[in-house]
Amino acid sequence: MKKIIINLSIILLSGIGVKAQNKNPFLWGIASAAYQVEGGYRADGKGESKWDFLTNKVGVTQFLIGQKQTGNVAINMYDRTQYLKDIQLMKELGVNSYRFSLDWSRIIPDGIGAVNEKGLAHYDLLIDDLKAAGIEPVVTLYHFDYPMALVQKGGWGNPEMINWYKNYAEVVLKRYGKKVKYFITFNEPYIEFMVAEYLINMEQSKEPNTVRFAKGIQKAHRQLLANAAAIKMFHEMNLKGQIGMTLNLSPCLPLDSNNPKDIKASEFEDKLLNKFFLDGLFKGTYPQQVVDSVQKYDPSFQPSGSEMKILAETKPDFLGINYYAPALVSYDEKAPFASTWMDNNTDKVKSHNGPVRPDELYHLLTRIKNDYGSPKMMITENGAGFEGEDIKVKPIVKDPLRADFIQRHVVAALKAKTDGVNLIGYFPWSGWDNFEWVFGYTKRFGLIYVDFETQERIPKQSYFEYQKIIKANK
Ligand code: FCB
Repeated sequence: MKKIIINLSIILLSGIGVKAQNKNPFLWGIASAAYQVEGGYRADGKGESKWDFLTNKVGVTQFLIGQKQTGNVAINMYDRTQYLKDIQLMKELGVNSYRFSLDWSRIIPDGIGAVNEKGLAHYDLLIDDLKAAGIEPVVTLYHFDYPMALVQKGGWGNPEMINWYKNYAEVVLKRYGKKVKYFITFNEPYIEFMVAEYLINMEQSKEPNTVRFAKGIQKAHRQLLANAAAIKMFHEMNLKGQIGMTLNLSPCLPLDSNNPKDIKASEFEDKLLNKFFLDGLFKGTYPQQVVDSVQKYDPSFQPSGSEMKILAETKPDFLGINYYAPALVSYDEKAPFASTWMDNNTDKVKSHNGPVRPDELYHLLTRIKNDYGSPKMMITENGAGFEGEDIKVKPIVKDPLRADFIQRHVVAALKAKTDGVNLIGYFPWSGWDNFEWVFGYTKRFGLIYVDFETQERIPKQSYFEYQKIIKANK
């Protein structure tokens, strides 16, 4: 009898185990973002967004690539005929999930006013089409872009932005909350404020770089508050899914490990780039050294007790991690916020986003597990582009270095998982070559090659490599 009961409980337990596993299988996906892939820039009542403005009116790609390019057409994924073909390619790849973002300016064209039903309906259908294909949507609410009308009201420089975002998030969560299992509130505040906006200087501010950088931290603080507000709302709505925030994280290493100045600079960079966001998100605190340095240049940065309490009380269900490379930091006395690390790529064949170091992905994941109470983590972006790759040799496109990059980073991620990291998914950036922000169409990151003139898609070597990886790990 005892034996039967034991056996029965094993069956029951394993049944539950299997069920629980099937309910939330490991997510093997690919990633994209609205402005980089959609096009359709005036379709169905869409409002003007910050990036529509930056590319069409400021001509922001000109600074870096010497020509004006926009996301007006991008890779045409707003078009259902096109995206259905892309879903087919995803099915053949074998992914069970797709991370994409919503364009706020399609849903509430002026940011705070009337809701545009056509915009909402578009994403409704996309979500349904993905689910019908057995692909779980992972929906980012905000990926760098938002309505221009709000930029004109000061954007994240205006504390009201928190409420405007909350209002938008409410519309999104009410509409899709029951059928989407994974939401991401924001993508990479550090890159948005301390890299992109900082480089572009959209406000055409004459303030010194230090002041502008410090103001970026203030904006990031507001984004963390908006994130907390959306997460709280999501939890109060008692939805079954999960909600998290995506950070770009890079272990910071001294460029010269024998140089004490580089060592110190890299320790500070780690606080700015990683700890500020992780501590804010998981502990409701900020590293004092960052607060002090920011206040030196922007004395108005005074996170209040009640704001920090909000941060401390609201935890994401998972952390989205975008990992490309470690930051190799060298001391620069002219840059108190040490932001010269992006250039220090020591590889022989240079990758677009820094040195290729899968070992540092492993360190990053285990560090977060140890320092932040083992949260669920999802690698929401990981990828590379290499100078001289992506050569079209029909029927495929050769990108051996990217294929190798993906393979080695998956090994590192799965090793971390075996060692106890609560990893729930992996999404290479990107499914397709697309509009790479200030670099326009000159930097390819896709597993699928896109001919930007004809919209033809050609799977690359890395696509087939990833297909093998998924098959072997399913
Ligand atoms: C990340 C962005 C993503 C893409 C990759 C290459 O910082 O989140 O949109 O541009 O870099």
